[in-house]
Amino acid sequence: PAEGVLQGKHVLITAGPTREAVDPVRYVSNHSSGKMGFALAAVAQQMGAEVTLIAGPCHLPTPPQVKRIDVESAEQMLKAVQDRVTAADFFIACAAVADYRPTAVADSKIKKSASSMTLELVRNPDILATVASSSKPPFTVGFAAETHAVADYAQDKLKRKRLAMIAANDVSDTSIGFNSDENAISLFWLDSQQQLQSKPLDKASKQQIARGILEQAARLHT
Ligand code: C5P
Repeated sequence: PAEGVLQGKHVLITAGPTREAVDPVRYVSNHSSGKMGFALAAVAQQMGAEVTLIAGPCHLPTPPQVKRIDVESAEQMLKAVQDRVTAADFFIACAAVADYRPTAVADSKIKKSASSMTLELVRNPDILATVASSSKPPFTVGFAAETHAVADYAQDKLKRKRLAMIAANDVSDTSIGFNSDENAISLFWLDSQQQLQSKPLDKASKQQIARGILEQAARLHT
């Protein structure tokens, strides 16, 4: 039913993990598959949007008519987002960005010698918070993966990162999330009286969940 509700809108999406180099042959990353972000890109395009997908390393086909930009690290992802965000009506941060990266990247392969070694890490930039706190942000949607007190943390993150909407996953349910083809989330946003509103999207395919997220975003975007 919602075909065309994003007609003429630009939707910018981040997806997948990031990869933070340790040396020329090693990296720090996580198990994000990118499936939720790619589903959002496919469905946004079906709903009429012009979609740009900024993807960390993912083994997934590019959805039809979606412009895909491949990146590796969080810093590259931030740069790719900043280069395109002013043209976006919606920004959906679905990537599992590595929170930390190695402080220094070794120029050549680190040799094993000592029986233990320490890898020093520094915080990565928060792409979502950077976009949401910019002077003229698009309608910005973040994700929150929590194991407990999901609503409390989601509400806190919504306000702290100045998001228009947040999609909260309960990652204590191992049948959904990360590599799964299904997901279940709750959406949270603040109404015009700054009252917290929520809408559950019950367990369904990531395509159906993506549709629920995009329909609600389109409804709230003024
Ligand atoms: O604070 P937390 O990492 O739980 O926030 C998750 C949300 O923030 C997700 O939407 C994720 O894509 C985004 N994020 C980001 N850049 C980071 C860390 C998280 O865009 N460095």
